[in-house]
Amino acid sequence: MTDRKKPTIPQLLKKASEGQPITWLTCYDYPTAYLQEQAGIDMILVGDSLGMTMLGYDSTLPVTMEDMIRHSQAVRRGAPNVFVVGDMPYMSYQPSVETAIRNAGRFMAEASCDAIKLEGGAEMADRIQGIARAGIPAIGHLGLTPQSVSALGGYRLQGKSASKAKKILDDAKALEQAGAFMILLEMVPDRLCQLITQRAEHCIIMSLGSGPHAHGQLLIYHDMFGLYPRFKPRMAKQFADAGKVILNGLTEYVKEVSEKTFPQPENWFGMPDDEYDELMKLL
Ligand code: KIV
Repeated sequence: MTDRKKPTIPQLLKKASEGQPITWLTCYDYPTAYLQEQAGIDMILVGDSLGMTMLGYDSTLPVTMEDMIRHSQAVRRGAPNVFVVGDMPYMSYQPSVETAIRNAGRFMAEASCDAIKLEGGAEMADRIQGIARAGIPAIGHLGLTPQSVSALGGYRLQGKSASKAKKILDDAKALEQAGAFMILLEMVPDRLCQLITQRAEHCIIMSLGSGPHAHGQLLIYHDMFGLYPRFKPRMAKQFADAGKVILNGLTEYVKEVSEKTFPQPENWFGMPDDEYDELMKLL
């Protein structure tokens, strides 16, 4: 824990309006949350991407509310002074406005989150409105929305044609009017992201693979550090190869145990001679 103060929504809005980029990363566990707070990250997303990065599923669809609450609680314990967003998993908000409000409330009450995020455009505006009216800060997510990956035809750029780009622009307006204080644009062209950012009136626009013109950037933690073995998306810069460092450590451990060079005396605990002699007498 640091002595920094958790950013508030007015402070995030001010940062955006002053052109200071907002930093946002995914995070799913206590030790990583601790490090992210130390590094000075503004916001954490406990993403349902944990289904892939932490649980090894092929998609985010099997992730449950219970998974999300458990990981959000761990993140909050590790990063008490970071703005934490709980990501609403598949079917936790799609069925109805009431389902959406109840599950959004669980993130706030059970995991002390500061906001929730959900995927979808104008068709989800009533969910965003219901959640925001219940006093829960709500974030929209447009462009590549992984819970709809099958309908979108795969993990690919969205809004490339003029008509599809117009639909995303209209969706962003609908979410803003419904009360979203922030919208994440994932994998849309940079100029579309720029247009949406310019047109946002009281809404922060964040980019994941959508270029530099948004009010801030989001990355998936596992992609940044070479920790996801299945693929590396183009939009993710690898800032360090932690996967390689860990693999080297693991290989060395296997070697040292096999060669009996680990453990060494500094890695174990002795017993006083008199206690050992007494033990022998007891046997
Ligand atoms: O779950 C997640 O991490 C997300 C990002 C892909 C934006 O929703």
